[in-house]
Amino acid sequence: MTHGWAEPLLGEEIRRIAVVGAGYVGLPTAAVLSSRGHFVTVAERDKERYQNLRDGLSSNVEQGLDELLNESMAAGRLKVVNSAAAAVVDAEFVFLCVETPQNEDGSADLSFVTGAAMEIGPKLATGTIIVNKSTVPMGTVGLIEQVIGRPDIVVVSNPEFLREGSAIADSFNPDRIVVGASDREAAAQVAKLFCNFQSPVVITDATTSELIKYASNAFLATKLTFVNAMASLCEVVGASADDLVLGIGYDKRIGFEFLHPGPGWGGSCLPKDTAALVAIAKSAGFDAEIVRAAIDGNQEHMKRVADKIRVAVGGEIRGSTIGVLGLTFKANTEDRRNSPSISITQRLVDMGAVVKAYDPSVSSTSAEATDLAHLTVCNSPYEAMKNTNAIAILTEWPMFRELDFVRVRESVATPVIIDARNILDVETLKRLGFSYSSVGRQ
Ligand code: UGA
Repeated sequence: MTHGWAEPLLGEEIRRIAVVGAGYVGLPTAAVLSSRGHFVTVAERDKERYQNLRDGLSSNVEQGLDELLNESMAAGRLKVVNSAAAAVVDAEFVFLCVETPQNEDGSADLSFVTGAAMEIGPKLATGTIIVNKSTVPMGTVGLIEQVIGRPDIVVVSNPEFLREGSAIADSFNPDRIVVGASDREAAAQVAKLFCNFQSPVVITDATTSELIKYASNAFLATKLTFVNAMASLCEVVGASADDLVLGIGYDKRIGFEFLHPGPGWGGSCLPKDTAALVAIAKSAGFDAEIVRAAIDGNQEHMKRVADKIRVAVGGEIRGSTIGVLGLTFKANTEDRRNSPSISITQRLVDMGAVVKAYDPSVSSTSAEATDLAHLTVCNSPYEAMKNTNAIAILTEWPMFRELDFVRVRESVATPVIIDARNILDVETLKRLGFSYSSVGRQ
């Protein structure tokens, strides 16, 4: 099967590329580059992920990813190995796509980045360009250069802006490509790898490129905290959040993207990157007050949503059973890292509620995960909602819009819905006799 985006390269030089790390960024990067005709070797040292990849299965749920990877593997343009050192031997470009987890003080843990640099340094051919896609603090390109310690190797920053759940579409249609390096020729060569994407290219120095990544995520997080605060304000002044979003979103300077109120923002990136930005700024002597306010505002918002559920069951939640729909941090991903749903359900349990939950990505095996120990995982949304005192929608999976609420109405103990994603039809639910609340809708 050939995808619309995966056109073969026309007249472009075919390159040998290594991708270190087959995670949420590494795999789409490998899929995109190999589908453009380049020869790509991916290194993944986690045994299970490595074996899954060899078997043609990526272990995340990105639409189209497995097809693209399998297509490239079958065409001999993509192979998977289990060590970075083995992947980079004859590569002209090495993409570093490794994790940068959060340290306790909010700063980024660079041990995977420096570890990978140490491992590959002695193996690189002269002239290899290292392209860092991992999200890293300003100055890390210089640090990688130091660790590698070879004047014949250039390191370039090329931050990634794809979203989980739409990684392939985002990778083929990036809003922009940012490349940062002191060696402009190397930066231009990296930009050329993506030249047929018709996206604007920003070539800058490495420090600015690294900051662009954090600034983008911090801006998005701030926008979300803002819209969630406005939705909460709608509730107290009797305004409509749906109409407010329309009314401000039509202003092109504001725009509709990232303007949908919800239970708070989460995931593996926005919380980590906002904390890192605050920590980086602090260590450089600058107080990134606005980003701190966005983080604190998000925590407060999640508390408000949990409290809204308490109020919806009559004020005393102890002993109530809450049916939760959605555990992931957003729809179309299996990722529950920093999920608002996990934090809100934990709060409900701490207040004395019993929580039953359903999420389409949570199988009976993942149901044993420690982050779900406080609740009971159900096999169907109907089971999760049966005999409950309230239903809370915490992730916007499309299937939740299609549920048979006539059937649900008959099975619940009390007909109460808290739609923290503002996705259900208010009138229909009210007609069925549900008490409906949301984030700022009337
Ligand atoms: C985010 C950025 O959007 C990507 O550009 C970036 O590349 C990525 O982080 C990263 O740094 O790797 P992602 O973590 O996949 O992507 O998640 P988002 O789609 O940004 O959603 C983040 C959170 O905001 C979710 O909890 C989501 O439910 C929430 N959200 C998003 C809303 O509540 N309302 C919206 O309108 C949009």
